[in-house]
Amino acid sequence: MTRPTLGVFDSGFGGLTVVKALVEAMPRADYIYFGDTARLPYGSKSAQTVAKYAVSAARFLEQQGAQLLVIACNTATALALPEITGAASVPVIGVVEPGAESAARRSGTKHVVVIGTEATISSHAYRHALESRGLCVKEKACPLLVPLVEEGWVDHAVTEQVSRIYLEEAFADGFHSADVLLLGCTHYPLLKPLLRMIVPAEVGIVDSAESTARVVSELLQHSPDTPLAPEKAETGFKFFVTDSVEKFRRLGPRFLGHAIKDVQHVDLRE
Ligand code: DGL
Repeated sequence: MTRPTLGVFDSGFGGLTVVKALVEAMPRADYIYFGDTARLPYGSKSAQTVAKYAVSAARFLEQQGAQLLVIACNTATALALPEITGAASVPVIGVVEPGAESAARRSGTKHVVVIGTEATISSHAYRHALESRGLCVKEKACPLLVPLVEEGWVDHAVTEQVSRIYLEEAFADGFHSADVLLLGCTHYPLLKPLLRMIVPAEVGIVDSAESTARVVSELLQHSPDTPLAPEKAETGFKFFVTDSVEKFRRLGPRFLGHAIKDVQHVDLRE
């Protein structure tokens, strides 16, 4: 029996939180990861630039044999999903719709706060996805959180203080009743324990990485083209990065949760 090969695209390291969630849901699959580490961060770039980079990454993943593409990067999903889908000949799943769907299911008050990079928030992709499900939305860009997570400061006092400032603003002005905090960035799952301490107990934290993994797993279970491998088969991994292999091996495990072996450097022409 063949096993599914999933291509996962991100601007760098953060998408490994999505790989982690995918592997938890589907250990019997092969994963090809493309991290555009030479060109990160995407969160401060224009839609045109992100679309150009994301389309070339999607093409590369398909050439490597990906049967389905997961756009792990919230910024790339928010800014360029139609372009990526248009350029791909395999199914493409982004993180925004699954995240919005989970948030909608979870919220009783129908008020949701979503946090993400500057570019994701300015695109209003989450706002549109949530409003189309009947929710009131407060969006908050939290640009300092990505560098703090990459620094490894996931439980540092500075990160706590910065998160408090962002969240106090986000939950103000009529959003005291929000009962869901939607994490719209690949890096934020690492901050979950810290954010849990800051937001009130009745606020549910919804992670777009986990939501996306559930959607992909359901899709594969119903797809005759990508059957799941036999019970005992191990997870396969291949990682491609556009910048330092050594740095990816060093930082990646923080996001993935285990050591990273098979990493190759790749140069993509624009
Ligand atoms: N991967 C990006 C996201 O989820 C965060 C890092 C970046 O800005 O490139 O939005």
